[in-house]
Amino acid sequence: MKNKIQPTREEVFLRDNDFIVSKTDLKGRIIYANKIFIEFSGYTQDELLNSQHNIIRHPDMPRGVFELLWKTLQSGEEFNGYVKNMSKNGGSYWVFANVTPSYDHQKNPIGYYSVRRKPSEAALSIIEPIYKEMLAVEKNAGAKEAIGISTQLLTNKLQGEDYDQFVLSI
Ligand SMILES: Cc1cc2nc3c(=O)[nH]c(=O)nc-3n(C[C@H](O)[C@H](O)[C@H](O)COP(=O)(O)O)c2cc1C
Repeated sequence: MKNKIQPTREEVFLRDNDFIVSKTDLKGRIIYANKIFIEFSGYTQDELLNSQHNIIRHPDMPRGVFELLWKTLQSGEEFNGYVKNMSKNGGSYWVFANVTPSYDHQKNPIGYYSVRRKPSEAALSIIEPIYKEMLAVEKNAGAKEAIGISTQLLTNKLQGEDYDQFVLSI
């Protein structure tokens, strides 16, 4: 499903004890959404199930972050990171997400699982300007180079730490 929703300035905030949970198949199609996910996304359960997870993608998010997310998951690692999401009405909400691969008994990957909580304001004040810069270089670069350049920018900003160490330290 193509997301044609216009982002608005409205921002909503997770409560301290909220967890947004979803499960996807290997292609990123949603196969489970908890009640809090339904509440914050503004979609019904029926609208969410079988949709690509990018149904809540916010245009402010740099592509380089999702590239990192998929590379990390496909290498069998867990991903931790900050994500700005867009709800059905165009409003936004920031989350701190943990995403992990799920396996069957033969250790074949069968899908992905994500739990998100409220991010700290201090962490967002560090991450938001980095994402803004990444997005700006992506917009200036050609489609082919965009992700490489923005990922390189992220690497430079982290000064020797990887993204995972970095996000867990802020
Ligand atoms: C378990 C799981 C959870 C995800 N959660 C989100 C999310 O909350 N927001 C989001 O924009 N993308 C999320 N993604 C990534 C999307 O699948 C997608 O890669 C991203 O929205 C970028 O969209 P695009 O690939 O169409 O550019 C998730 C992926 C997986 C596997």
